[in-house]
Amino acid sequence: MKAIVVTDQAAGTAGVKLVERPEPQAAINDVVVQIHASGFTGDELSWPSTWTDRVGRDRTPSIPGHELAGMVTALGYGTTGLSVGQRVFGLTDWYRDGTLAEYVAVEARNLAPLPGDVDFTEGAALVMPGLTAWQGLFEHGRLQAGQSVLVHGAAGVVGSMATQLAREAGAYVIGTGRAAGRQTALEFGAQEFVDLDNDSLEDVGGVDLVFDVLGGDIAKRSAGLIRAGGTLVTITGPTGARPTDGLTVDFVVVPDRTQLSEIVRRLRDGRVRTNIGKVATLDDAVAAFNPTERVKGKTIIRVRP
Ligand SMILES: NC(=O)c1ccc[n+]([C@@H]2O[C@H](COP(=O)([O-])OP(=O)(O)OC[C@H]3O[C@@H](n4cnc5c(N)ncnc54)[C@H](OP(=O)(O)O)[C@@H]3O)[C@@H](O)[C@H]2O)c1
Repeated sequence: MKAIVVTDQAAGTAGVKLVERPEPQAAINDVVVQIHASGFTGDELSWPSTWTDRVGRDRTPSIPGHELAGMVTALGYGTTGLSVGQRVFGLTDWYRDGTLAEYVAVEARNLAPLPGDVDFTEGAALVMPGLTAWQGLFEHGRLQAGQSVLVHGAAGVVGSMATQLAREAGAYVIGTGRAAGRQTALEFGAQEFVDLDNDSLEDVGGVDLVFDVLGGDIAKRSAGLIRAGGTLVTITGPTGARPTDGLTVDFVVVPDRTQLSEIVRRLRDGRVRTNIGKVATLDDAVAAFNPTERVKGKTIIRVRP
């Protein structure tokens, strides 16, 4: 099969290559999925899981990309809950070969059924932002209707989904970002927007939850805005930011079938939409991951036409 591989951590996205690889086999509780659309986050190339297995052994050349939408083609020993020919979408294990390929072997529990009226490109684009936003807002952030949430990077891939899900849950959403992101953030449902280059973050006053995708000094300053009992949720790695009377949760997204089904239901109802910036073929993926101009929104690789 065709697959994108990486071998050289220092090279970043310039080191991705399109090669031929053997098709994967389904292990216990796995399915093999014929991939129709795949998503990739550039930061994966800095994560240890792209380069080693769980005990630290080199696993290069490895196939990056962990978001998929496709069709089940084989079941492993003992696998239940999915069937051959079923449309699925989901998030694969960080430590295994990923989804920038024609086929992937993945644990069935990482996947959810993809309804027949949802395009594979849309399905793949929902996975990472949908699960990350859901887990940050509702699991870790315990967001309730009527509460206020400050969503950093609200025009970005994860931030735009967090904005929509928070609004839909009845929260008051203040988005942030650069000036150029204002209109996009408002269109995704933010009720206010703070331009982090020109407005004062401190003027926001108190919020119940901060959903942080930026880290650094912005995360630290945001901690001071959190009301007693509130939470700072961050997805950029530990920031050292702590609210005086509240929680900080730094987390990495995990697969969840139930949450994927909730999120895709909202897509079908028109309650959320994806934030896709570019769609490229697998043959063009190397160029798509090394764009000459900044692409805003998610890049999706359409593996099968
Ligand atoms: N922990 C996890 O499970 C997890 C899951 C998914 C993603 N992530 C991480 O989350 C981060 C965000 O991912 P994403 O896909 O949402 O990225 P993205 O689409 O680039 O979104 C980031 C947004 O923030 C804006 N922004 C960036 N730096 C800014 C600054 N200094 N001031 C104001 N606005 C700024 C960007 O504007 P411009 O486009 O104008 O730069 C963009 O609108 C990445 O680091 C990613 O690796 C973590």
